[in-house]
This record gives sequence, structure tokens and C-alpha cells, in this order.
Amino acid sequence: MKVRGTVRPPGDKSISHRALMLAALAGGGTSELEGLLTGDDVKSTARVLRGLGADISTVREGATVKVHVSRFTSPVSRLHCGNSGTTARLILGILAGQNFAATLTGDASLRRRPMRRVIEPLRTMGAEITERGADSLPLTIRGGRLHALTYTTPVASAQVKSALLLAGLTGGVAVTLREPYRSRDHTERLLAHLGLGLHERDGAIVFEPLARSVVPSFQLSVPGDVSSAAFLVGAAALAQGGELVIENVGVNPTRTGFLVVLARMGARVERVNLRDAGGEPVADLVARPAALSGTEVAAAEVPTLVDEVPILAVLASRAEGETVFREVGELRVKESNRLELIAANLRALGVEAEARGNDLYVCGTTRPPRGRVDTARDHRLAMAFAVLGTVPGADVRLSERASVAISYPRFFADLRRIRETGKGKRER
Ligand code: S3P
Repeated sequence: MKVRGTVRPPGDKSISHRALMLAALAGGGTSELEGLLTGDDVKSTARVLRGLGADISTVREGATVKVHVSRFTSPVSRLHCGNSGTTARLILGILAGQNFAATLTGDASLRRRPMRRVIEPLRTMGAEITERGADSLPLTIRGGRLHALTYTTPVASAQVKSALLLAGLTGGVAVTLREPYRSRDHTERLLAHLGLGLHERDGAIVFEPLARSVVPSFQLSVPGDVSSAAFLVGAAALAQGGELVIENVGVNPTRTGFLVVLARMGARVERVNLRDAGGEPVADLVARPAALSGTEVAAAEVPTLVDEVPILAVLASRAEGETVFREVGELRVKESNRLELIAANLRALGVEAEARGNDLYVCGTTRPPRGRVDTARDHRLAMAFAVLGTVPGADVRLSERASVAISYPRFFADLRRIRETGKGKRER
């Protein structure tokens, strides 16, 4: 297979959530958001915000989404966060500063995901939270008067960090945060871009509410999602020839660890047309086939590539030698138990792979991958293993494909479009 052409990945999922939430909190005027992801997770955020009284136009492909000024009010029913951990955790932060009670729930996968990591610091700030399960949704939060918080997060999680910053914003209190490793900083960038009292001091992230700080309405063009682009880069790296241009990709350094590791493995991805969009660096990527070799991914790199471990593990399975991912235990509590499922699915395809403690080991092979993959309805597993299915002689059968709608609804169409068969024809 060869790759060719130009492709635009969908809008960045993390930035789309944050843009919608901050626009819904704006104190006056209408915000206009372009390039927003139209995947199910972002629709979950829009639905939950509407449940709180926000006036948001339909989130659909090609549309500028308008968010009109509105006041949050007590929701009449439970707020359903679908499959989206970012929606649940960030909305908890927003609700901590609201003077009413709301109940959050989600699908079966989200109801298994840990919430204590946000519940505990939000309780310290003064929010009342009652959970029915041990550590998970559904739960009810009653916000109100909050206290300032100085906190070191036990895990490097942008969702926890963002929830606490948003609580500071809606509660009008200072928040000082440290994290073991720097996680994605989109919330900090957007708050700073909007002039909302965010800065760094002595290695800590500091939010200090300004006097009468009101979120201004704003216009934003959301860049393409580097985590979605990663699957296309992966397909190009595994191809036998050609070149692929991936346009308008967010290249925030807290998100591009994947490109750093890939360069170490032998695949250099060029960044061209570097520019800025709303405080975020954006570029076009040029990806080409490469002979890959194994590497060690260090714990400090993991937050910068946490969503790219599935595709990196797939690439490692085609590399010469062994690849080790250190300290990827967080993958157990993503949309699925990604750590075990990456290893088990690679084994099902004839690859030596194993999770030992919190580390993941993958041994490269040249044998064609053949077998059935259980995606557990996890979008990133489905896309990573679909990419593995593009290598010569592969027969990779996915248990389902619909989950890609979470973050990359057009994924299979794009994957088909960039591929060229040996006879010079695009695959159908
Ligand atoms: C996200 C943060 C990451 C990531 C998720 C999106 C965000 O989760 O895995 O897909 O938008 O803040 P953690 O913060 O739990 O690591």
C-alpha cells in the first residue's frame, strides 16, 4: 500500500470541550466557534451545557457553532455525559462554583471510570458531592461558596487540573496547582488567551480571579486534533511508499510526544506552515513511510502521548526489536482497559506483547497480523488496529467500528482515501 494526498483531521477534542464550556460561561455577547469536533464526546458536552441552560447552536460538520449568553440554572434532569470523561470531570469543576445541585451520569464505560481524583480536591474547595458508587458516576454535586486551593495532583491529568481551574473560575477563588509531569495545557492557554488571570509561578500553575472577572465572549478556530492525526501518520509510516500531508494540526508540545517517540523510532514527520490559532501552535504535517526500530518510552513522556499509546504500540509491533512503554498504568482507566486490551489484541494477531506491572512491552515482527480484535467499543483501539490492518497480508477483523464516532467520525473514509493499491488505484 502507498499513501497519498492531503487530509484534514477533525477538530481537537480537548480544545472543543474547553471552548464550548468557556463560551457557555461568557458573561455577555455571542461566541463563535469554528472547526469544533462534531464527534459524540463534544456533542455530550453541548448536551450537558444545554441541560444547564446554555444556548448553543447545533454542532455539525462545517457549521460555526454559536453560543449565546445565558445563565446557568438548576437542571431539571440528570446530565448525561455519554462516553466522555472530559465532559464529566470538567463539568464537575464548573458545577462546584454554582449554587444548585446537579446529578451527572454516563454510559457503562464512563460509569466505571474513577472520579475520586476530582471529587476529593473539589470537596476540599467546599463543594458537596455525594456518590452512589464507590468512586464513580452517577453522582450529585451541590456547589456554592468555595475556598482557595493549593494542590499537587497525584496523577498528571489534564482533566483533574482543568476541573480545578474551572472551579476557581466559577467560584471566584484562587487555585495553585502542581502536577508530577506537565499534562496538556489547553485550559491554561485558553484562560490566558481570554485574559482571565492565569499564569505560572515557581513551576506552579496559578489562577487568580481578577476583580469582577467575567468571561468575555470570543471567536475561536479550533485546530485539527493531533491525536486523530496520529492514526494517519501511523498509516503513512507503515505504507510502502508515497507521502501524506495532514493539514491544520494542533502541535502544542504537551500533545506531540508521539512525534518525538516516532522520530526516535526512525519516522521523522515534518512540520510546515507553523502558525498560531487562539494561543495554540498549529502546523501542517508531512508524513512518509519509514523503517521503524524499537524504543523506550519514559514515564515523563507519557502525559504528552497518553492517547497515542494504542497507535504507538501498533507501530512498535512492526518495528525491529522491542519497545517498552514505562508507567502507562493510567491506560487501565481510559475508555477501556487499554493497557490489557492493547497487549491481548496484539497477541491475538500473532505479536508478542505483554503488560507487566504498569509497563507495556511489544516485540516487533514482520509476520502479517491476522486475527480478531476486541475493541471494547473504544474508539482509539478501533482506529489503531484498523491501521495495523493496512499492512501487506494483514487480516485484522475488528469487533466493531462505530466507536470512531466519538472522536473521528470520518476515520474510515479518510483511511480509505489516503491509500493507494499496488496497481496505482485508491482502495474502495
Ligand atoms: C484529556 C485528558 C486526558 C486524555 C483525554 C482528554 C483532556 O485524560 O486521555 O482523552 O481533554 O483533558 P487525563 O487527563 O485523565 O489523562
